[in-house]
Amino acid sequence: MGDFIGKYCIVTYGCQMNLHESEKLAGILEGFGYRKTDCENDADIVVFNTCCIRENAEKKAEGNIGALKKLKRDKKNMIIAVGGCMTQQKGYADKLVREFPFIDIVFGTHNLENFAEFLLEKTESKKHVVSVSEKEGAIVEGTPKSRSSFPNGWVNITYGCNNFCTYCIVPYVRGRERSREPEAIIKECEELISAGYKEITLLGQNVNSYGQDLKNVDFAELIKRVSALKGDFRLRFMTNHPKDLNENLVKAIAESDKTTRSIHLPVQAGSDRILKLMNRHYTRAEYLDKIGLLRKYMPDIAITTDIMVGFPTESDEDFCDTMALVKEVGFAGAFTFIYSPRSGTPAAKMSGQITEDVAKDRIMKLIDLQNGINRSQSSGYVGKEIEILCEGFDEKKNKFLGRDTYGRMAYFNGDDLIGKFVNVKITEAGGISLYGELVSVKD
Ligand code: 5AD
Ligand code: SF4
Repeated sequence: MGDFIGKYCIVTYGCQMNLHESEKLAGILEGFGYRKTDCENDADIVVFNTCCIRENAEKKAEGNIGALKKLKRDKKNMIIAVGGCMTQQKGYADKLVREFPFIDIVFGTHNLENFAEFLLEKTESKKHVVSVSEKEGAIVEGTPKSRSSFPNGWVNITYGCNNFCTYCIVPYVRGRERSREPEAIIKECEELISAGYKEITLLGQNVNSYGQDLKNVDFAELIKRVSALKGDFRLRFMTNHPKDLNENLVKAIAESDKTTRSIHLPVQAGSDRILKLMNRHYTRAEYLDKIGLLRKYMPDIAITTDIMVGFPTESDEDFCDTMALVKEVGFAGAFTFIYSPRSGTPAAKMSGQITEDVAKDRIMKLIDLQNGINRSQSSGYVGKEIEILCEGFDEKKNKFLGRDTYGRMAYFNGDDLIGKFVNVKITEAGGISLYGELVSVKD
């Protein structure tokens, strides 16, 4: 690591993929000799790693960038960099420097690994460094990472997406799907296990289509290879597309003693008409068949999902189909969203955009329904003893926290538990989370 030259602060928006990419940016910055701070006011370089999946993510980032104007006036040598999905949108980088001329570096999603070069270029010149390459390049291996998620280690397996769901900006800002070579993935997993990481999460926009651009490997095969690694660890992966979940893959998951008994399987909507307009490539019945397949091999598997309301032309009847599907499946959790038009996507040009009032009313009903399901599933835990991987300490609650194999979060007291598998007896269920007493700690 270089000599200490100042402090860095990375502000991340959006998904786990972005959080992991911020770990790479942190690795690069620490290589220069910067040290981490969580306080922007205290930093010599602030990097915004942005998201553009919904308008509110974008507005939040723009607000936070704007708020640094005064700080930059007082601290002339401070460097402000903005990268990620937001800057990768057509014409956005220019708009950004026009609106916020105090930004020093703008980079995209395809060249994050070159951040060191941009930083050097900036230190040698007074001008903005704007580098957003339109085309995705080959996968870059070996970028240093400063991980901040112990005992969870995140491992990229694919980049980009080929699906072009009509509402989604991701394929435009992350490019076509590229799979990482299995050997590189296995090597990274081995390193994590020997460094004491206890949970590996394989990451991609659509992990179950892994390997379609490689020879002799698919996601089922990758699951088998990672599961065969020696060590006491859990294996998770996200996110999945229902159309790519087949029996061979379900069997591989079921037969692995490392994979958790939870899967995230975004459904988006329960109406066939809306699913078609979304270009999701499955019907409601086909989605339910996939749920059946998962439960055939793993009767207790916890299934979580993403659901959107207010997609263009969504009628009350379509929404009722979504509500009925949610009841039928009994999801262990759901991320719910109001559809947000994204410029450049087909759905943004569709007629029949839904008013905000209607969309808000629908999302409230959906959240209420799912909350009820969460409460009833959680209350079934009371009195049970479960195995938890302790992931952290919640300062506000003054308790340790972690999840069981079904992904359910529990809070408990103890001492020095992070990274350990522990048994907890559940005494109380509060909404989706559980509270309990520590019974034992695994060696
Ligand atoms: N508006 C609202 N939600 C969206 N998502 C993706 N694009 C949009 C959009 N334009 C949701 C989907 C996806 C999750 C990551 O974000 O539900 O699964
Ligand atoms: Fe977006 Fe669909 Fe790709 Fe997910 S699968 S990133 S929702 S286009």
